[in-house]
Amino acid sequence: MTEDLKSLGEQIEHALAKHMPHQSDIAQPMLDAMRYAVLGGGKRLRPMMVCASCQAFGGQVTQALPVACAFEFIHAYSLIHDDLPAMDDDALRHGKAATHVAFGEANAILAGDSLHSLAFQAVVDAQDITDGAKLRIIGLLSKAAGWPGMSGGQCLDIEAEGTSLSLAELEALHQAKTGALIRAALESGALCAGTDPSSREFARLGTFGDKIGLAFQVVDDVLDITQDSATLGKPADSDTVNDKNTFPRLMGLEAAKEKAHGLLEESLALLEEASIATPLMITLAKKSVQRSF
Ligand code: IPE
Ligand code: IPE
Ligand code: MG
Ligand code: MG
Ligand code: MG
Repeated sequence: MTEDLKSLGEQIEHALAKHMPHQSDIAQPMLDAMRYAVLGGGKRLRPMMVCASCQAFGGQVTQALPVACAFEFIHAYSLIHDDLPAMDDDALRHGKAATHVAFGEANAILAGDSLHSLAFQAVVDAQDITDGAKLRIIGLLSKAAGWPGMSGGQCLDIEAEGTSLSLAELEALHQAKTGALIRAALESGALCAGTDPSSREFARLGTFGDKIGLAFQVVDDVLDITQDSATLGKPADSDTVNDKNTFPRLMGLEAAKEKAHGLLEESLALLEEASIATPLMITLAKKSVQRSF
């Protein structure tokens, strides 16, 4: 199993490198920043979920690789912008200088912009999925990345600094800023395999995505205060410094950990119900929660 995950990780790294532009007569510093942000590390959770879901629904991992890259491009862009001085103002990412520190703010912002559009290009250029699936995936990706999803959640995250949200509001924030992209990654993997989006299994996959996506951000909040910067590869205590709304702050550290584990149990049950409890799906669900980095 670990071997499967390792081989999947290698296929994803290879595909990401293949999609990244190398050279431009007009925008070399921006391209360098894009490459730095994408090829410089990360757990690759979202692209792994795209591929694992495609496989669980009867498709091939290789079919889903361009779509997997698309999700990682959106994610990498979100991290570049998340670290900017106007947002979380974090100087460290993946154990190295954040993109705006290494390349300047203007090139970091532009690299994010270009990764956003590169994501859609990767879906359009995918070879082994139908045009119908591409169209649905573009719909899912744009919604998950945009105002109802990641960037909308980021807006609330910033606006709510220094205030106290209710538990329901915080759940909605995390669902939008992090859960939406994770859910869409899983759903897009299933679409790559030709799954009917009106099927019961697809609906259960969506609920699984919501739960594991929320759990993932709860754990991210927990690690912000329990791990050091060297282990995280990003600044520890960033949420405290920025006076963010987080699950540990709202409910206490132990209750936040229990919340994440409860969500994992519910998620694993949903995989069984949807008949997609493959070793890879189970491993990725567990890794989303039981991680110490
Ligand atoms: C960090 O995501 C940002 C969140 C949405 C919590 P990841 O922890 O997946 O980031 P990398 O890519 O693995 O560093
Ligand atoms: C970021 O959440 C979510 C994104 C959409 C990028 P965080 O601000 O908690 O992510 P980290 O902790 O900096 O990776
Ligand atoms: Mg943030
Ligand atoms: Mg941040
Ligand atoms: Mg965080």
